[in-house]
Amino acid sequence: MKILMVFGTRPEAIKMCPLALELRKHKEIECKICLTGQHREMLRQVMEAFEIQEDYNLNIMRKSQTLTTITTDVLEKLEPVLIEEKPDVVLVHGDTTTSFAAALASFYQQIPVGHVEAGLRTGNIYSPYPEEMNRLLTGRIATYHFAPTERNRSNLLSENIEKNVYVTGNTVIDSFKTTVKENYVFHNPVLCNINYTDHRVVLVTAHRRENLGLPLQNICRAIKRLAERHTDIEVIYPVHLNPAVRETVYDILDGVDRIKLIEPMDVLDMHNLIARCNLVLTDSGGLQEEAPSFGKPVLVMRTETERPEAVDAGTVKVVGVKEEDIFSAANLLLENEGEYKLMAHAVNPYGDGHACERIVTVLQNQ
Ligand code: UD1
Ligand code: UDP
Repeated sequence: MKILMVFGTRPEAIKMCPLALELRKHKEIECKICLTGQHREMLRQVMEAFEIQEDYNLNIMRKSQTLTTITTDVLEKLEPVLIEEKPDVVLVHGDTTTSFAAALASFYQQIPVGHVEAGLRTGNIYSPYPEEMNRLLTGRIATYHFAPTERNRSNLLSENIEKNVYVTGNTVIDSFKTTVKENYVFHNPVLCNINYTDHRVVLVTAHRRENLGLPLQNICRAIKRLAERHTDIEVIYPVHLNPAVRETVYDILDGVDRIKLIEPMDVLDMHNLIARCNLVLTDSGGLQEEAPSFGKPVLVMRTETERPEAVDAGTVKVVGVKEEDIFSAANLLLENEGEYKLMAHAVNPYGDGHACERIVTVLQNQ
C-alpha cells in the first residue's frame, strides 16, 4: 500500500509527523510526504524537530499570499506528484487551505482521501474563516474520516457522513512522546533565562485571519494591561510570521515591561513551555488541545470554538475578543487562586496518545 501525506502549515506538521513516524514503522506500507510549503520557516522548524525529511516540497509560500493563490498553487503543483506517485490513499489534515486543495486535487485524480482530525465544527462558515468551510469541503471529499472525539463523529453523522468514520483521538497528543522531556533545556535564550519559580509565565499566541485588525488590537491592549498590573508575571508571546499580525503586535506591545515578543518557537520549546507556564491566552486551535493535558488553564480569545470538549471539562474558557472581557477573565485567574485551581486540572479529552496506531490499523485493513 502506498500512502501520500500532504500538508503545509505548522499545526498540520505537528499533528502529521507522529503519524508519519508510525506509518514508517510498517514495512508493508510505503509512506511518502509532500509538503505544499504554505508555511516555510514555521514548517521547517517542525520537520527538524521530528527529524523527518519530505519527499516533495511544492514551495508555494508567498509573502502576501491569498486564499486564492494558495488554492490554485496547490491544485496546479500537486497534480504532477499525484500522477507520478499514484498513491492508494492521500492523507490530509484538519482545516487549512492546503488540506482542502490537496483533497480536491486528489479527487480530480480519483484517489481516495483520508481526513485526519475530521468532524470539528463551529456551524459558522465565517468563523473560523476560512477553516470551517475548508473542513466541511474536505469532509465531503474524503473516503476515510479520522475523528478525534465522539462529538466530532456526531458532527459528521449529522451531515450524513456515516461510512468509514473512526474515533481515534487527536494525533497531537501522540506528538508529546517526541517533544516533551523531563529536565528539558530550552533552545531559545529568552526561555532559558526565565526564573520559573519566582515568575508566573503567561503564554500568548494569536494569528487567526478573523482576528486581524481590531480584535488583535483589543487582544494586545488587554495583555498590556495585565503586564502593567501584575509585576510577578512574564508574558511570553511568540509572534506568528504573518506580516499583518506582526505589525499590530509590535506596534502595541514592543518594549512593554514584562512582555517578551519572540520569534516563533520550535515545537520542542513550545510544548515544554506549556508544561511550565501558568496560563495560556490564545486564538490557536492546537493550544486548546495541548494545554489541558498539562493542567494549564486556557482562555480562548475568539467568539466560539470547535473544540468544546475541554470547555465542558472546565479547563478552557471562550472569552471573546473585547479588551475588557479578555483582561478581566485573565486578571481573575491571576488574582484569585480558587478560580485558578478550578480550571487547573489535567484532562485528556483529545486522546490517549495512541491515535496514530489506530489510524494505521484502519488503513492496513483497507
Ligand atoms: C494558516 C492557516 C490556518 C492555520 C495557520 C497556522 C489557511 C487559510 N490558514 O494561516 O488555518 O491556523 O496557518 O499557523 O490555511 N509566513 C511566513 N513564514 C512562515 C509562515 C507564514 O513568512 O513560515 C507569513 C507569509 O507572509 C504568509 C503569511 O505568513 O503569506 C500568512 O500565511 P498563511 O498560511 O496564508 O496564513 P496563516 O495565518 O499562517
Ligand atoms: N506552536 C509552536 N510554536 C509557536 C506557536 C505555536 O510550536 O511559536 C505550536 C503549538 O504548540 C501548536 C501549533 O503550533 O501545536 C498551533 O499552531 P497555530 O497556532 O499556528 O495554528 P492553529 O492550531 O491555530 O491552527
